[in-house]
Amino acid sequence: MGRIIEPNHSTGTIEKMVIDHLNRGIERKNHPFKNFVLSTTDGSMVDSRMVVLREHTNEPFILAAYTDIRSAKVDHLKNIPKASCLFWHPSAKLQVRVNASAMISNRDRRSKQAFADSTSFGKVAYNTIDAPGSLLDDFEWKPAKLRDEFDADYFAILDFKVYHMDVLQLSREGHIRTKFTYDETGKCTDAAFVTP
Ligand SMILES: Cc1cc2nc3c(=O)[nH]c(=O)nc-3n(C[C@H](O)[C@H](O)[C@H](O)COP(=O)(O)O)c2cc1C
Repeated sequence: MGRIIEPNHSTGTIEKMVIDHLNRGIERKNHPFKNFVLSTTDGSMVDSRMVVLREHTNEPFILAAYTDIRSAKVDHLKNIPKASCLFWHPSAKLQVRVNASAMISNRDRRSKQAFADSTSFGKVAYNTIDAPGSLLDDFEWKPAKLRDEFDADYFAILDFKVYHMDVLQLSREGHIRTKFTYDETGKCTDAAFVTP
């Protein structure tokens, strides 16, 4: 795939194309926007890890991931509800970075429904007896012990409300970079081309 953003595109067109590719990331198994790098902080250190993009809404502008409520990233977000989400499309050479505020849903109707809709493979991930990151007693690798009955107790939805989006299209004819700012409702309040 060649570049997605062309020099003659307006900021509005660029925004639409990026949103379209984010949606493809949710819907298509092999789209590079299926996974993104989520960075959080405990206040002194920053941690980054891959997560799967699960949901997107425009109003407000939210990108959502699923996780285990016991994981370190949730502790970070409970204390400092700010995150950076980084997407990279290697063949199109397109980088998308967002700054977002995070909200956590757990043991509510929406998270229970999303858990019910997840695959059996997915359900396993949220039903280990030990919390993610717990040290194993053994010196040999052993698969994680699972609870007898699976439920949605540890399943959480992380909603990232986007307030800044930075789009960089790499190109031999000159890189193209745009910045977008969003309000609480997801309305784009500022869009501009910037020096790459
Ligand atoms: C491709 C890929 C996708 C992943 N998707 C998720 C995910 O959607 N949710 C999640 O909690 N962890 C996911 N992980 C595991 C995380 O990267 C991480 O190892 C784990 O969540 C523990 O992170 P933490 O201790 O920083 O909370 C994924 C890992 C990879 C390599």
